[in-house]
Amino acid sequence: MKTRAYGKINLGLRVLRKRPDGYHDIETVFHQVDIADELTFRLHERDVIFSTTHPDLANDRTNLCLRAAHLLRDLTGIQDGAEIMLAKNIPLGAGLGGGSADAASTLKSLRALWNLDISDDELRTLAVSLGSDVPFFLNGGSAYATSRGEHLEPLRLGLPYWIIVVTPPIHVSTATAYNNLRRTSEHMSLVDFKSVLLNHLHEPEVLASKLVNDFEPVVFGLHPEIRDLKQAMLRHGAEVALLTGSGSSVFALTKSEATAHALMRNLEPLGRVFVTKPFFSPTHQPTPPFSEA
Ligand code: C5P
Repeated sequence: MKTRAYGKINLGLRVLRKRPDGYHDIETVFHQVDIADELTFRLHERDVIFSTTHPDLANDRTNLCLRAAHLLRDLTGIQDGAEIMLAKNIPLGAGLGGGSADAASTLKSLRALWNLDISDDELRTLAVSLGSDVPFFLNGGSAYATSRGEHLEPLRLGLPYWIIVVTPPIHVSTATAYNNLRRTSEHMSLVDFKSVLLNHLHEPEVLASKLVNDFEPVVFGLHPEIRDLKQAMLRHGAEVALLTGSGSSVFALTKSEATAHALMRNLEPLGRVFVTKPFFSPTHQPTPPFSEA
């Protein structure tokens, strides 16, 4: 069984307060983009075996695919094993949710492969325990997220922009970025990104002023070259440019195909460039061949 796990960007991200459980309440809009890992799952007699094309991924219980598989086995008591192969394309520590997308894809694929009688609600509970944005990737698309990021309201958001994501060769730790924010338990105000996007989708100047990411001051302070990347995007014609997640990637939005091409050309020296066409939706992509099943 083969699946593609698509990454995301955050169309705005506010960190509202620190919670008693150590996490933070946030407000964001997750939006899937055309950057994907490819996962292959095969039945194995007893064991769960993981292999990957990426040299930096630990092959132990910190690995989100392995953790997802073992959570399913612990919950159901199933003895079947699986072989999981991950062709990694989404960069790590880049704010694109690659690890979370892989985890969600593993939960869904193994539920099917092992024929498990587990409800969507149970799968969601397992997803939250793997990471705050894993539940989003169970359904993907676009969603307005609050609480830790696991409280989701699906959005029908045909985004009429080219999205140019640039990932500089910098790895940002999400936990460190949150710690450096120094939020207290006092609540910061919501922007209401959902209304901003739904009411002003075709007004890029409004999006540019209202879609903020609270991690920018912290991450730009730690890595000035990420601020330079955002400024380069705006100089080369991006209508909107914003950090995604806690970085290190920055994305640009533009309605113009010519500007999209100029951005791709000019930003190439600054990092890996990924392009998503207007109105992209992962659910409308061709499924990869199932010859491996
Ligand atoms: O949930 P996840 O494992 O992806 O989070 C990684 C780290 O980011 C957490 O350990 C926590 O320090 C921080 N975090 C947070 N509030 C959130 C999400 C993540 O403080 N809503």
